[in-house]
Amino acid sequence: MTAWIDHFLFGLYPYLCLVVFFVGSWIRFDRDQYTWKSDSSQLLRTGSLRWANNLFHVGVLFLFFGHFVGMLTPHAVYDVLITAHDKQLLAMISGGIAGLMGFIGVTLLLHRRLTDARIRATSKTSDIALLWIFWVQLALGLATIPLSAQHLDGSMMMLLAEWAQRIVTFRSGAADLLAPAGWIFKTHMFLGMTVFLIFPFTRLVHVWSGFGTLAYVLRPYQLVRARRLNVPTGQNQPRRSL
Ligand code: HEM
Repeated sequence: MTAWIDHFLFGLYPYLCLVVFFVGSWIRFDRDQYTWKSDSSQLLRTGSLRWANNLFHVGVLFLFFGHFVGMLTPHAVYDVLITAHDKQLLAMISGGIAGLMGFIGVTLLLHRRLTDARIRATSKTSDIALLWIFWVQLALGLATIPLSAQHLDGSMMMLLAEWAQRIVTFRSGAADLLAPAGWIFKTHMFLGMTVFLIFPFTRLVHVWSGFGTLAYVLRPYQLVRARRLNVPTGQNQPRRSL
């Protein structure tokens, strides 16, 4: 029988986190748009930021999409393309590289934020807490790789994916599935969900905007009309501008 704590953490907590993530982001956008930003510290010191920030973002964005597609694609859909064994290997290798990039990046970001007096003084508690959370989360993610290497049949990966799919499709029994998962997997999952929980209260809201910028690709041209008087008909055409 699954303990109540497992039922709470892996059966109820995911929904709590998702509700706070969506509703909280909405309320923050509605009420506090001027606080909706990535809070760049580049003006205080560029230095290691370029490498650190890029390594961190490339790693984390790859991991975000990797987890999203990897966990939520039903086995029957990818089964014709790739076996569970190969998919697990792919996840371990690509996730390992991206995880390492993210981990080096976040370590540099943390070092910079803690050792530069001006950046430290202007950091909110949540800025530092976030970096520590990602540091631990990436370390735990990397620690799952040797564990996964012990069972290359993809069984654990399929189990975790089934858990995620049951959660997002509101099916019961999700928490019970996790009985064979060890504490490293469970702590990694708990912390991952917690990132969604704290998301609306931190600078992480910039992730919405980051994805939102993709809309610029499809955005219609802005029409700019000159406010000239007495212009002969036909010359007051709108200009197209990005
Ligand atoms: C969607 C695309 C994204 C864009 C365009 C973006 C952009 C940015 C920018 C411009 C900064 C400020 C860097 C500076 O100090 O100048 C930043 C910081 C940060 N981003 Fe993102 N980001 C994206 C996605 C993400 C994701 C997916 C995460 C993690 C889940 C993330 C976590 C962070 C964190 C923790 C910082 C603070 C780094 C520090 O302590 O200096 N970002 N991001």
